[in-house]
Amino acid sequence: PIKACIFDLDGVIVDTAKFHYLAWQRLARELGFDFSEEDNERLKGVSRMDSLNILLEIGGVELEDTKKEELANKKNDWYVELITHMDKSEILPGTTEFLTLLKEADIKISLGSASKNAKMILEKIGLLHMFDAIIDGTDISKAKPDPEVFLLGAKALNVEPSECVVFEDAVSGVEAAISAGMYVIGVGSKETLHRANDVVQSLAEMTLDRLAK
Ligand code: G6P
Ligand code: MG
Repeated sequence: PIKACIFDLDGVIVDTAKFHYLAWQRLARELGFDFSEEDNERLKGVSRMDSLNILLEIGGVELEDTKKEELANKKNDWYVELITHMDKSEILPGTTEFLTLLKEADIKISLGSASKNAKMILEKIGLLHMFDAIIDGTDISKAKPDPEVFLLGAKALNVEPSECVVFEDAVSGVEAAISAGMYVIGVGSKETLHRANDVVQSLAEMTLDRLAK
């Protein structure tokens, strides 16, 4: 039986991916190169510093660690500025309804995100109270595709990995869930997320029946 659902944040619950992209793009421009939407796929689910390293690799830029620290902070300041006015209207379709169904069915809910801004975002969109556990970028030492983030979620909820279902929009996140021994439902395109057990375009397609399968 399914006892818990673990949700990624960016791209599953809320469409912050566009704001991450805008901030990375601004940084790339400042460094003198272009950063395409296609390249941006590689940054989804990836931690802030790992994302910066991928960005610099794309631009062919090599920097010292202190400079990288500075740029990562700068990107985050821009990102935080972009999401200041985020509210309930940014919640992706079907999310609130599905979380409510899970609550009614007594299925536990956890967050499993690489973002250090996760709690602030959940607070802004008014969904923080729906979560029984929150595992975010401040709790983990190994980024997705490492299963750490999801295993910590299962542990916090006191359930077995085999009793969890993960919702993910990133390839790295789908791999992390598979490594954790969890059933994974991709949120996005079937082609990109072909390794997932099931794929929906948004949580609006989710029902308790589909979950039970
Ligand atoms: C999520 C997003 C990534 C982001 C990462 C770290 O996984 O998909 O695009 O880089 O979180 O987010 P943060 O808010 O800590 O910079
Ligand atoms: Mg994501």
